[in-house]
Amino acid sequence: MAVNLRGRSFLKILDFTPNEIRYLLDLSKNLKSLKQAGIAHDTLKGKNIVLLFEKTSTRTRCAFEVAGRDLGMGVTFLDPSASQMGKKESIADTARVLGRMYDGIEYRGFSQKIVEELAEYAGVPVWNGLTDEFHPTQMLADLLTIEEKLGRLKGIKLVYMGDARNNMGNSLMVACAKMGLHFTACAPKALFPEKWLVDACQEIAKESGATVTLTEDVAAATQDVDVIYTDIWVSMGEPEEVWESRLKLLQSYQVNAKVMENAGKDAIFMHCLPSYHDLNTEVAQKIYQKFGVQEMEVTNEVFESKQSVVFDEAENRMHTIKAVILATIGG
Ligand code: CP
Ligand code: NVA
Repeated sequence: MAVNLRGRSFLKILDFTPNEIRYLLDLSKNLKSLKQAGIAHDTLKGKNIVLLFEKTSTRTRCAFEVAGRDLGMGVTFLDPSASQMGKKESIADTARVLGRMYDGIEYRGFSQKIVEELAEYAGVPVWNGLTDEFHPTQMLADLLTIEEKLGRLKGIKLVYMGDARNNMGNSLMVACAKMGLHFTACAPKALFPEKWLVDACQEIAKESGATVTLTEDVAAATQDVDVIYTDIWVSMGEPEEVWESRLKLLQSYQVNAKVMENAGKDAIFMHCLPSYHDLNTEVAQKIYQKFGVQEMEVTNEVFESKQSVVFDEAENRMHTIKAVILATIGG
């Protein structure tokens, strides 16, 4: 059946069928080719979108801004201090006001409940630009990158190392289950994803031919896999005090040369970014001063290696977000 996503919100990958995800990936590829060929695709002229950010961002914000402008739209950016939302105005009221002025709303923030509530009241598509639980636009960029680099999605073996119950661990497990990849969360038990989501993904996997595995065993998990994926060990919104215990819990789950060798020479390294792979950031410096740790979730050697595709992934955020906007607002 033909896919029609007009009017739909993009809140989590769980809400979409493999066919709909396929459609968004193919649309992303078309839009990427147009951009690369310098062919204008400003088919949403006269429309406007608003970007609400309650957490910081480089990629997601810029991807929405550039995608919106390439499509010919007006784009408004609101940072946490710039809107009344949550302070003087409820989520429901904010959604109804913005829905009267804009054709689509992006939200990055804390609870998934907030973005779901915005979508319930806005009357226009709402796009999740990251919540504590999920990061669905990142998934489209990651799937596109895997397909570009490895030529397929089905049957690919992907291992996610680190905090497997954060927005990235959750979202990758769902995305892999939907699209038929073999997903392994390689993490200490304390950081395994929640049972309800694992159960849901295992059900989805039965249909797609995917598998979902949780393990603490780094050597077994990473042997001969196609993709090694990691994320920062402490996510936005978590208190600073978490660092000490997280460093202890996750130090043996660092992606380093040994892990990449075990995976095989054709394996790729992925990361949603930003990453603490050196001491060139304020946070990494602080952690180094306090705990003596120089590289965290990935070594600089792996991050800068030929196997690393992290900047292709970052670029693909823009092409895939453009596809989501175009598909849900419509031309
Ligand atoms: N990957 C990602 O979402 O990056 P930003 O936090 O910079 O948007
Ligand atoms: N887990 C990270 C992802 C950043 C894109 C965070 O939420 O901070």
